[in-house]
Amino acid sequence: MAQIAAPQIDLAVAADAEAIALLSRDEIENGLRWAWTPARVRRCIADVCSNVIVARDSGRIVGFALMSYADEHAHLLLFAVAPDRRRRGIATALWNWLETTLRTAGIADAQVELRASNAAARAFYERVGFEQVAATPHYYQGAETALHMVKELAAPAP
Ligand SMILES: CC(C)(COP(=O)(O)OP(=O)(O)OC[C@H]1O[C@@H](n2cnc3c(N)ncnc32)[C@H](O)[C@@H]1OP(=O)(O)O)[C@@H](O)C(=O)NCCC(=O)NCCS
Repeated sequence: MAQIAAPQIDLAVAADAEAIALLSRDEIENGLRWAWTPARVRRCIADVCSNVIVARDSGRIVGFALMSYADEHAHLLLFAVAPDRRRRGIATALWNWLETTLRTAGIADAQVELRASNAAARAFYERVGFEQVAATPHYYQGAETALHMVKELAAPAP
């Protein structure tokens, strides 16, 4: 599908937390207990060890990513694009923003978990350079297997 002009990507602010949490509930956590509530997202927005970014179109949040950092490792915890805006490069633009930040910060690798049934996310992560390294049955509230994927960003120290 056609790419849109580069979406506007910003760091999220507290007022974005509800829209992000609702996208997570409906597009990532569907069928599971809602864990990423507005309050939890708001805490991450305020947390210096996390980056929460949003793609906006005319003020509406059409995609977001939530990434946490620990030492040299980054963990992509949430990532979604609104259903009516998919296959237009929005996730790619969000990931490129994050990857530039990770490389600038000297982060060695990024990891992500996704539901084994999520073929679209798997295709997307493979497209931007992640590789599957493991799978954990019953990972999602006992209900579904998780695939663990990693993208190496920097060569490990000798
Ligand atoms: C996965 C997701 C974030 C991709 O967002 P997107 O903005 O549509 O992705 P992009 O347009 O940047 O796609 C880039 C490439 O990824 C691959 N891709 C993305 N969606 C795909 C799909 N449904 N099927 C196959 N490949 C896909 C393609 O190679 C695509 O390039 P192309 O459109 O030129 O073929 C989106 O489908 C989504 O929000 N899904 C629900 C939430 C989710 O699963 N989040 C991730 C798990 S936490």
